[in-house]
Amino acid sequence: MPAVGGISVGGGKAYPGSLTPFVTVTCIVAAMGGLIFGYDIGISGGVTSMDPFLLKFFPSVYRKKNLDKTTNQYCQYDSQTLTMFTSSLYLAALLSSLVASTVTRRFGRKLSMLFGGLLFLVGAFINGFAQSVWMLIVGRILLGFGIGFANQSVPLYLSEMAPYKYRGALNIGFQLSITIGILVANVLNYFFAKIKGGWGWRLSLGGAMVPALIITVGSLVLPDTPNSMIERGDREKAKAQLRRVRGVSDVDEEFDDLIAASEASSQVDHPWRNLLQRKYRPHLTMAIMIPFFQQLTGINVIMFYAPVLFSSIGFKDDNALMSAVITGVVNVVATCVSIYGVDKWGRRALFLEGGAQMLICQAVVAAAIGAKFGIDGNPGDLPKWYAVVVVLFICIYVAAFAWSWGPLGWLVPSEIFPLEIRSAAQSITVSVNMFFTFLIAQVFLTMLCHMKFGLFIFFAFFVVVMTFFVFFLLPETKGIPIEEMGQVWRAHPFWSRFVEHEDHDNRVEMGKGGY
Ligand code: BGC
Repeated sequence: MPAVGGISVGGGKAYPGSLTPFVTVTCIVAAMGGLIFGYDIGISGGVTSMDPFLLKFFPSVYRKKNLDKTTNQYCQYDSQTLTMFTSSLYLAALLSSLVASTVTRRFGRKLSMLFGGLLFLVGAFINGFAQSVWMLIVGRILLGFGIGFANQSVPLYLSEMAPYKYRGALNIGFQLSITIGILVANVLNYFFAKIKGGWGWRLSLGGAMVPALIITVGSLVLPDTPNSMIERGDREKAKAQLRRVRGVSDVDEEFDDLIAASEASSQVDHPWRNLLQRKYRPHLTMAIMIPFFQQLTGINVIMFYAPVLFSSIGFKDDNALMSAVITGVVNVVATCVSIYGVDKWGRRALFLEGGAQMLICQAVVAAAIGAKFGIDGNPGDLPKWYAVVVVLFICIYVAAFAWSWGPLGWLVPSEIFPLEIRSAAQSITVSVNMFFTFLIAQVFLTMLCHMKFGLFIFFAFFVVVMTFFVFFLLPETKGIPIEEMGQVWRAHPFWSRFVEHEDHDNRVEMGKGGY
């Protein structure tokens, strides 16, 4: 029977309690864990376009960029060590997110967040004082370890704390703090690049200590999740905590479901092997394909290299950094559109609209760059209106990503996995995401050098594929309680053949109340 302010979870069930101030503040603090990821994404591109930074650590790139004016524009930044600087972090994050899943499970989410904050803090400190390329790369590997821990634990923490009805919005809250981190980093880059004496990049890199301190202190003051307390055997405390979080004393139904979920998942000895069963084929496919496609939109070409890209198409360094600030604002605002619309218009509508919009923009940008730069990368004189048109279409592209594949690339996997495979499948999603982020960061500048404007056509091709993928293979998950999610696969023309023989009642039993 639905209680007032209660949260319907389907099948006539309702958990009492709503969005209390306590849970709201807790979730806002925890979601700030996304800031370190975002800050780093935003900072690296800007720093690598600052001349004093290039001169100190990558002098050959600097020479190519500034002294040799006849050089092909497509290839001016092509340097393996420069890309290694950006991409080393993602490999480190991939490895640590695997370790973090064990820490998170055995010792609680808070400890993983604390590790994340501390590792990131040390990495930022080393980077701020870096004297050599190797110090830079060691610092970045530590930042990557930090991000791996944070990205593994923060979304899990949010999902466990959030009242059922608000899980989607709070998930996107994490993405929102990623985009805020990117924007803050872009703004800081813009100002720090102006510092006389050319040491502004040290402030940009060292400034990462601020979001690191936020997550570190946050992890110390945040309460533990009831789920984590149950998992570690403290049922009494867990129940008191659940009452506090929900703001009501009648939490018996949800509490019993949490116990049942915890017991069910502790009976699964081999979640990884479990994933290979035929009935989990749709889930495994999504765990791999969604993060893969998210990265193959090409978004991180813009996020990491916007200033580099903009200065390649003829902007002065200062304008190039300013353009990154503009795309950063668009990214934050468009993410809010997604928070507003995701439960109204549904996931599929956002995915399909976003895909079409990205495709158009990529085609325009490819044509514009191709027309001016041709094959040899020599643009001659570029009129101002031309650069404005390119930036405009890049902004429309970023907006499309920010209300579709950006947030949904994290939200949809987290809501479609049944409890018994949830943590293993989520680890796959995180690892695949980090791997392709790494790959694109590492090969982008080389690809730009060789594929030229065709690079935008390359990403456009994948946008077409992913849009068809969503159209034919991704069922709508809006408004469906997690434990009822099995029905979307059984009703699906393609996936039903994999899941139709499964024991539905048993699955519902195992999935209920879990995160
Ligand atoms: C992606 C990042 C990307 C960011 C941009 C995130 O969802 O995982 O790779 O840089 O969105 O806002």
